[in-house]
Amino acid sequence: MEFYIVNGGPRKKFNTAQLLEKASEGILDELKKSHGEDDINIHHIHLYDLNFKGCKSCFHCKRIGGKYYAQCPIKDDLLDLIPKMEDADGIVFGSPIYFGEITGEIRSFFERFLFSSFVYGGESNAPKRMPIGMIYTMNVTEEVFNQVYGSKFDILENVFEDVYSKPHSLKVYDTYQFSDYSKYENYAFDPELKAKRKEEHFHIDLDDAYDLGVKIAQESLKL
Ligand SMILES: Cc1cc2nc3c(=O)[nH]c(=O)nc-3n(C[C@H](O)[C@H](O)[C@H](O)COP(=O)(O)O)c2cc1C
Repeated sequence: MEFYIVNGGPRKKFNTAQLLEKASEGILDELKKSHGEDDINIHHIHLYDLNFKGCKSCFHCKRIGGKYYAQCPIKDDLLDLIPKMEDADGIVFGSPIYFGEITGEIRSFFERFLFSSFVYGGESNAPKRMPIGMIYTMNVTEEVFNQVYGSKFDILENVFEDVYSKPHSLKVYDTYQFSDYSKYENYAFDPELKAKRKEEHFHIDLDDAYDLGVKIAQESLKL
């Protein structure tokens, strides 16, 4: 079985990366109950290491009878990766929130990954349904998120539902952003409160990410 863990943030060891690692562990542990480890491949993709741009609106993927129908023909690092991911048994994406949105990098990736299988007013062109996980990490508290961002990610998640399946969504609030708060200019966040939140709550977020991975694995066995 093939799974992809996709980090849409630039940092390889911080919040998003650690949560994705836990989701990966959840997938592996759950599948090991019924499969040999040799049958389980979990691929870790770090989008910032890849060379690609967003959709160019060429519409080859929508051209009836065209050579690239339902495929993205752009020749960059996503050319071979997208078809492999379309055939996967499950994917977990993670992104920090930058100015209220997922990062530009993962947004560009989604334009390419989703648009080639998305059909205006029709059934998905993706080769198969698969379980999807989405992990968002951010500085703001849950209260501020609900007031300011609300249902912001629903549009993206609705497209995922049309093309693959409704994502299992995990929002991780009030993250510890700097390795050392005393070294960086910041008047918005109290370093002591941030440290307290990290100490008291981040392990719960990691457990939630693990559980998300378990759900992705369980769903992959049903589809
Ligand atoms: C350019 C930039 C913009 C950010 N904008 C927001 C924001 O609008 N809302 C928010 O809650 N956090 C914002 N953050 C904080 C990050 O989303 C948060 O620290 C996240 O957990 C970082 O993930 P990482 O530790 O995996 O890098 C921003 C961080 C950066 C670098």
